[in-house]
Amino acid sequence: MASGQLSRVEALACSGCRHACHVMLYADTKSQLFGKIPIRHIILMQMRFDGLLGFPGGLVNPAEETLEAGLSRELSEELGVALPMSVEDHVVSCHAPASSPSSSRLITHFYVKKMEEEQIREVERAAASTATDHGQEVLGMVRVPLYTMKGGGGLASFLSHSFIGNARSQLVDSLLRLNLVAPEELHKALVHSVK
Ligand code: APR
Ligand code: MG
Ligand code: MG
Repeated sequence: MASGQLSRVEALACSGCRHACHVMLYADTKSQLFGKIPIRHIILMQMRFDGLLGFPGGLVNPAEETLEAGLSRELSEELGVALPMSVEDHVVSCHAPASSPSSSRLITHFYVKKMEEEQIREVERAAASTATDHGQEVLGMVRVPLYTMKGGGGLASFLSHSFIGNARSQLVDSLLRLNLVAPEELHKALVHSVK
Protein backbone atom coordinates (compact mmCIF):
# COMPACT_ATOMS: atom_id res chain seq x y z
CA MET A 1 0.00 0.00 0.00
CA ALA A 2 1.44 3.43 -0.93
CA SER A 3 2.40 5.81 1.88
CA GLY A 4 -0.51 7.71 3.37
CA GLN A 5 -2.97 5.05 2.21
CA LEU A 6 -5.10 3.16 4.69
CA SER A 7 -7.29 0.09 4.44
CA ARG A 8 -10.99 0.65 5.10
CA VAL A 9 -10.67 -1.20 8.41
CA GLU A 10 -7.66 0.89 9.53
CA ALA A 11 -9.46 4.08 8.49
CA LEU A 12 -12.60 3.24 10.45
CA ALA A 13 -10.54 2.26 13.50
CA CYS A 14 -9.05 5.76 13.77
CA SER A 15 -10.64 7.37 16.79
CA GLY A 16 -10.97 11.11 16.54
CA CYS A 17 -10.52 11.18 12.76
CA ARG A 18 -12.99 12.95 10.50
CA HIS A 19 -14.04 11.22 7.29
CA ALA A 20 -14.91 12.54 3.84
CA CYS A 21 -16.17 10.41 0.94
CA HIS A 22 -16.11 11.51 -2.70
CA VAL A 23 -16.89 9.72 -5.96
CA MET A 24 -15.88 9.88 -9.60
CA LEU A 25 -18.98 9.15 -11.70
CA TYR A 26 -18.22 8.36 -15.33
CA ALA A 27 -19.67 6.87 -18.50
CA ASP A 28 -18.49 5.90 -21.95
CA THR A 29 -19.73 8.02 -24.86
CA LYS A 30 -19.54 7.85 -28.63
CA SER A 31 -20.15 11.59 -28.98
CA GLN A 32 -17.60 13.81 -30.67
CA LEU A 33 -16.55 17.41 -30.18
CA PHE A 34 -17.02 19.47 -33.40
CA GLY A 35 -18.14 16.21 -35.01
CA LYS A 36 -14.57 14.89 -35.15
CA ILE A 37 -12.77 14.78 -31.76
CA PRO A 38 -13.83 11.67 -29.78
CA ILE A 39 -14.96 12.61 -26.26
CA ARG A 40 -14.68 8.91 -25.25
CA HIS A 41 -15.72 9.25 -21.60
CA ILE A 42 -17.84 11.64 -19.56
CA ILE A 43 -16.27 12.23 -16.13
CA LEU A 44 -18.13 14.43 -13.65
CA MET A 45 -16.42 16.90 -11.35
CA GLN A 46 -17.81 20.03 -9.74
CA MET A 47 -16.90 23.67 -9.28
CA ARG A 48 -17.09 24.06 -5.51
CA PHE A 49 -18.19 27.07 -3.45
CA ASP A 50 -14.50 27.84 -2.75
CA GLY A 51 -13.65 28.13 -6.45
CA LEU A 52 -11.79 24.82 -6.49
CA LEU A 53 -12.56 21.76 -8.58
CA GLY A 54 -13.43 18.56 -6.73
CA PHE A 55 -15.49 15.41 -6.82
CA PRO A 56 -19.04 15.24 -5.46
CA GLY A 57 -19.33 13.97 -1.89
CA GLY A 58 -18.53 15.31 1.56
CA LEU A 59 -18.17 14.77 5.27
CA VAL A 60 -19.51 11.54 6.73
CA ASN A 61 -19.86 10.52 10.38
CA PRO A 62 -19.27 6.75 10.61
CA ALA A 63 -20.77 6.75 14.13
CA GLU A 64 -24.13 7.62 12.58
CA GLU A 65 -24.05 6.09 9.09
CA THR A 66 -21.92 3.80 6.95
CA LEU A 67 -19.39 5.52 4.67
CA GLU A 68 -21.46 4.54 1.64
CA ALA A 69 -24.78 5.71 3.12
CA GLY A 70 -23.12 9.02 4.02
CA LEU A 71 -21.72 9.38 0.52
CA SER A 72 -25.19 8.69 -0.96
CA ARG A 73 -26.67 11.35 1.35
CA GLU A 74 -24.05 13.89 0.20
CA LEU A 75 -24.76 12.98 -3.43
CA SER A 76 -28.49 13.54 -3.00
CA GLU A 77 -27.74 17.03 -1.61
CA GLU A 78 -25.13 17.95 -4.22
CA LEU A 79 -26.53 16.14 -7.28
CA GLY A 80 -30.26 15.91 -6.54
CA VAL A 81 -30.41 12.17 -7.27
CA ALA A 82 -30.53 9.02 -5.13
CA LEU A 83 -27.42 7.02 -6.02
CA PRO A 84 -26.85 3.94 -3.89
CA MET A 85 -23.13 3.42 -3.28
CA SER A 86 -21.55 0.12 -2.32
CA VAL A 87 -18.34 -1.10 -0.70
CA GLU A 88 -17.33 -2.48 -4.12
CA ASP A 89 -17.18 1.09 -5.48
CA HIS A 90 -14.47 2.00 -2.94
CA VAL A 91 -10.99 2.58 -4.44
CA VAL A 92 -8.70 4.10 -1.83
CA SER A 93 -8.63 5.81 1.57
CA CYS A 94 -5.84 8.06 2.77
CA HIS A 95 -4.88 10.67 5.34
CA ALA A 96 -5.27 14.25 4.10
CA PRO A 97 -2.43 16.57 5.13
CA ALA A 98 -3.33 18.38 8.37
CA SER A 99 -4.77 21.84 7.58
CA SER A 100 -3.66 23.14 10.99
CA PRO A 101 -1.82 21.50 13.93
CA SER A 102 -4.96 21.59 16.08
CA SER A 103 -7.46 20.25 13.52
CA SER A 104 -8.53 16.60 13.83
CA ARG A 105 -7.14 14.42 11.08
CA LEU A 106 -9.22 14.03 7.96
CA ILE A 107 -9.35 10.71 6.12
CA THR A 108 -10.56 10.89 2.53
CA HIS A 109 -12.30 7.89 0.98
CA PHE A 110 -12.46 7.78 -2.80
CA TYR A 111 -15.00 5.84 -4.85
CA VAL A 112 -15.53 5.30 -8.58
CA LYS A 113 -18.86 4.39 -10.21
CA LYS A 114 -19.42 3.65 -13.87
CA MET A 115 -22.82 4.58 -15.27
CA GLU A 116 -24.62 4.69 -18.58
CA GLU A 117 -24.34 7.92 -20.58
CA GLU A 118 -28.07 8.66 -20.15
CA GLN A 119 -27.77 8.23 -16.34
CA ILE A 120 -24.89 10.73 -16.27
CA ARG A 121 -26.97 13.20 -18.30
CA GLU A 122 -29.80 12.75 -15.79
CA VAL A 123 -27.38 13.51 -12.94
CA GLU A 124 -26.29 16.69 -14.73
CA ARG A 125 -29.90 17.80 -15.22
CA ALA A 126 -30.81 17.12 -11.57
CA ALA A 127 -27.63 18.81 -10.27
CA ALA A 128 -28.60 22.02 -12.06
CA SER A 129 -32.27 21.94 -11.04
CA THR A 130 -33.44 19.95 -8.00
CA ALA A 131 -30.18 19.62 -6.01
CA THR A 132 -30.48 21.57 -2.75
CA ASP A 133 -26.78 22.56 -2.84
CA HIS A 134 -26.94 23.96 -6.38
CA GLY A 135 -25.68 27.54 -6.48
CA GLN A 136 -24.49 27.29 -2.88
CA GLU A 137 -21.98 24.56 -1.96
CA VAL A 138 -21.88 23.50 -5.61
CA LEU A 139 -21.60 26.16 -8.30
CA GLY A 140 -21.96 23.69 -11.15
CA MET A 141 -20.98 20.31 -12.50
CA VAL A 142 -18.20 20.12 -15.09
CA ARG A 143 -17.02 17.39 -17.44
CA VAL A 144 -13.32 16.61 -17.76
CA PRO A 145 -11.99 17.04 -21.32
CA LEU A 146 -9.85 13.97 -21.99
CA TYR A 147 -8.57 14.91 -25.45
CA THR A 148 -5.59 17.03 -26.42
CA MET A 149 -6.19 19.62 -29.12
CA LYS A 150 -3.67 21.11 -31.49
CA GLY A 151 -2.09 23.89 -29.45
CA GLY A 152 -2.45 21.91 -26.21
CA GLY A 153 -6.02 22.71 -25.10
CA GLY A 154 -8.06 19.98 -23.43
CA LEU A 155 -6.82 17.76 -20.62
CA ALA A 156 -3.59 19.72 -20.00
CA SER A 157 -5.54 22.97 -19.57
CA PHE A 158 -8.05 21.28 -17.29
CA LEU A 159 -5.26 19.91 -15.08
CA SER A 160 -3.82 23.44 -14.77
CA HIS A 161 -6.83 24.56 -12.70
CA SER A 162 -6.85 24.49 -8.89
CA PHE A 163 -8.25 21.43 -7.12
CA ILE A 164 -9.37 20.73 -3.54
CA GLY A 165 -7.16 18.41 -1.48
CA ASN A 166 -5.89 15.51 -3.53
CA ALA A 167 -8.72 15.59 -6.10
CA ARG A 168 -6.26 16.21 -8.95
CA SER A 169 -4.24 13.09 -8.15
CA GLN A 170 -7.44 11.09 -7.57
CA LEU A 171 -8.44 12.10 -11.12
CA VAL A 172 -5.05 11.40 -12.70
CA ASP A 173 -4.69 8.03 -10.91
CA SER A 174 -8.19 7.02 -12.05
CA LEU A 175 -7.52 7.98 -15.68
CA LEU A 176 -4.49 5.71 -15.63
CA ARG A 177 -5.97 2.84 -13.60
CA LEU A 178 -9.17 2.65 -15.67
CA ASN A 179 -7.27 3.28 -18.92
CA LEU A 180 -9.51 6.24 -19.79
CA VAL A 181 -6.58 8.08 -21.40
CA ALA A 182 -3.54 6.40 -23.00
CA PRO A 183 -0.56 6.59 -20.61
CA GLU A 184 1.63 8.50 -23.10
CA GLU A 185 -1.16 11.02 -23.79
CA LEU A 186 -1.69 11.49 -20.05
CA HIS A 187 2.03 11.94 -19.53
CA LYS A 188 2.11 14.67 -22.21
CA ALA A 189 -0.88 16.43 -20.62
CA LEU A 190 0.82 16.34 -17.20
CA VAL A 191 4.03 17.79 -18.65
CA HIS A 192 2.07 20.57 -20.39
CA SER A 193 -0.11 21.42 -17.40
CA VAL A 194 1.57 24.02 -15.22
CA LYS A 195 0.82 22.36 -11.84
N1 APR B 1 -9.16 15.25 -1.38
C1 APR B 1 -8.91 15.64 -0.11
N2 APR B 1 -9.76 16.37 0.61
C2 APR B 1 -10.89 16.69 0.02
C3 APR B 1 -11.22 16.31 -1.29
C4 APR B 1 -10.30 15.55 -2.00
N3 APR B 1 -10.50 15.14 -3.23
N4 APR B 1 -12.43 16.79 -1.59
C5 APR B 1 -12.83 17.44 -0.50
N5 APR B 1 -11.90 17.39 0.45
C6 APR B 1 -11.97 17.93 1.79
C7 APR B 1 -12.49 19.34 1.86
O1 APR B 1 -11.45 20.26 1.98
C8 APR B 1 -13.32 19.32 3.10
O2 APR B 1 -12.53 19.69 4.22
O3 APR B 1 -12.90 17.10 2.45
C9 APR B 1 -13.68 17.89 3.32
C10 APR B 1 -15.13 17.63 3.08
O4 APR B 1 -15.41 17.69 1.70
P1 APR B 1 -16.59 18.63 1.14
O5 APR B 1 -17.06 18.00 -0.12
O6 APR B 1 -16.11 20.03 1.09
O7 APR B 1 -17.64 18.48 2.31
P2 APR B 1 -19.20 18.71 2.33
O8 APR B 1 -19.68 17.94 3.51
O9 APR B 1 -19.80 18.48 1.00
O10 APR B 1 -19.33 20.24 2.58
C11 APR B 1 -19.14 20.79 3.81
O11 APR B 1 -19.03 23.09 4.29
O12 APR B 1 -18.57 23.81 6.42
C12 APR B 1 -18.10 23.76 5.12
O13 APR B 1 -15.77 23.86 4.77
C13 APR B 1 -16.81 22.97 5.11
O14 APR B 1 -16.08 21.99 3.03
C14 APR B 1 -16.99 21.89 4.10
C15 APR B 1 -18.40 22.07 3.63
MG1 MG C 1 -21.90 18.42 0.66
MG1 MG D 1 -19.02 18.29 -0.90
